Amino acid sequence: SRILVMHGPNLDLLGQREPDVYGRTDLETINRQLNRQADAAGVVLECFQSNAEHTLVERVHQASRDGVDAIIINPAAFTHTSVALRDALTGVGIPFIEVHLSNIHAREAFRRHSYFSDAARGVIAGLGPKGYELALEALIDNTQRD
Ligand code: DQA
Repeated sequence: SRILVMHGPNLDLLGQREPDVYGRTDLETINRQLNRQADAAGVVLECFQSNAEHTLVERVHQASRDGVDAIIINPAAFTHTSVALRDALTGVGIPFIEVHLSNIHAREAFRRHSYFSDAARGVIAGLGPKGYELALEALIDNTQRD
């Protein structure tokens, strides 16, 4: 099976960006770990980061053309703003898991609402990089069952 991991804006700064909130692990390290996990399970994994909404929307469309089975997405700030990215995901109908490094419910009020959560297969927040691994594990378990 094919899985796409999508990282939204400013996640390219992980490791140096507000380490008290987001930790000291950089994005490359997170992606490397996910690739190891996918390889061990025989899953084809691709990781993608962009700071631009339209690039993320188009990447979702591309995923549909590529026959991607599931998406793990941290929409970052677009979580709280982007109807367009939500519509891209529901439009192509690829099941997705929403991941946040921080617990968005324990922060500013504007982070509590997500345009994605009600359409997501599942939501993980507050567990740091481990959240991506757990999301991938859930998808791998699923594909091995069916
Ligand atoms: C985030 C939480 C968002 O509120 C924030 O805008 C981010 C990262 C997280 O992973 O905790 O950029 O999605």
